[in-house]
Amino acid sequence: MSGIITVVAPVNIAVIKYWGKRDEELIIPLNDSVSATLDTNVMCAKTSVCVSPDFTNNEIWLNGKKESFTSPRLQNCLREIKLRAVAERSVDDVFLSWKIHVCSENNFPTAAGLASSAAGYACLVTALAKLYKIKSDVSSIARLGSGSACRSVYGGFVHWHAGVKADGSDSVATQIVGSSHWPQMRALILVVGDDRKKVSSTKGMKISKETSELLQYRIEKCVPRRTEEICEAIKNKDFSKFAEITMKDSNQFHAICLDSYPPFAYMTATSLKIIDFVHKYNEICGEPRVAYTFDAGPNACLYLLEEEVSKVLGLIQYLFPTTISDSFIKGLDTKATPASEEVLQNLSLQPEAKDSVKYVIYTKVGDGPTEVTDGSSLLNDAGWPVNPVIE
Ligand code: DP6
Repeated sequence: MSGIITVVAPVNIAVIKYWGKRDEELIIPLNDSVSATLDTNVMCAKTSVCVSPDFTNNEIWLNGKKESFTSPRLQNCLREIKLRAVAERSVDDVFLSWKIHVCSENNFPTAAGLASSAAGYACLVTALAKLYKIKSDVSSIARLGSGSACRSVYGGFVHWHAGVKADGSDSVATQIVGSSHWPQMRALILVVGDDRKKVSSTKGMKISKETSELLQYRIEKCVPRRTEEICEAIKNKDFSKFAEITMKDSNQFHAICLDSYPPFAYMTATSLKIIDFVHKYNEICGEPRVAYTFDAGPNACLYLLEEEVSKVLGLIQYLFPTTISDSFIKGLDTKATPASEEVLQNLSLQPEAKDSVKYVIYTKVGDGPTEVTDGSSLLNDAGWPVNPVIE
């Protein structure tokens, strides 16, 4: 058997959104996108892989449960990794012929809709690249698993270039700046309760591409300028500019969802209340101090600088009361400062129904995938799951 490789990989939250594919099969986007990679100490996917002449089939376990290996996206990732290994002559043919075992889990609820596929595929592809000793950039292979996964291959702030080639070989992610460049940058993820069955990103993108005129306008006119400007804002640590572009781009993405036909919406009344709160807060401050962004679901990701965190958390606790007070704020250590009467009066917002925000995850910008060598592999010495779920 080969050695077991174990990797942890981060989630990323886009500030310029990817929405729409030029090529569905190869997952090539219609536009560039930009994101921040978040700390793996707070949220991560973890994956162990190994190959052996004793394995009879390729097998995969997700969160302990055996899943089918036949998904085309999974197959594409493994095929491309092996082709790279052949091109780079990094392993021999015998090694390449052995079957593989993959065991993967997330340390956060998959159902919360928190970019789990991005972390999962970045983790898988990085682990495979290490197993097959690949040296070149693998973001274009992670992209074949889930578009946004290519951005989780790097830490800090990341730019996914749409590319122009038909085979997608130039549709890759590059790092704008590393995780230590803007050390004060923080993120608060507000997990919003929602039981509705939503349109998957893959399906939503397809409807938007086929029907939304606003999407065409966005691709031609808005994204190129915004991408350039936000990269500059990140390099210059210009929070006001960063915040304004982030919020406008999130709003435009959700406007496209409503401009699609039939339309669909990811934000709920609670999401809209969060938007209202952020704008009022920024108005009181006289400049943008908090930026919101929403993906294909109702959860908010608020970007803000460290000095704002406890004040903003105090306001969130007031506006979105909880019945689980002891574990409402998860992640990095912090304390909420209770909101002052004056600020509350200026905000003039009433608290929402209890638990409309289920909990908050406090995190920061972090590094890309890393190999774990502390012996906490998800596969045992024979290459089988350490903690299988027996059904
Ligand atoms: C709204 O990467 O999940 O989060 O490529 O079809 O797997 P597929 O879609 P996915 O889409 C993410 C969409 C988004 C915006 C973003 O992350 O840029």
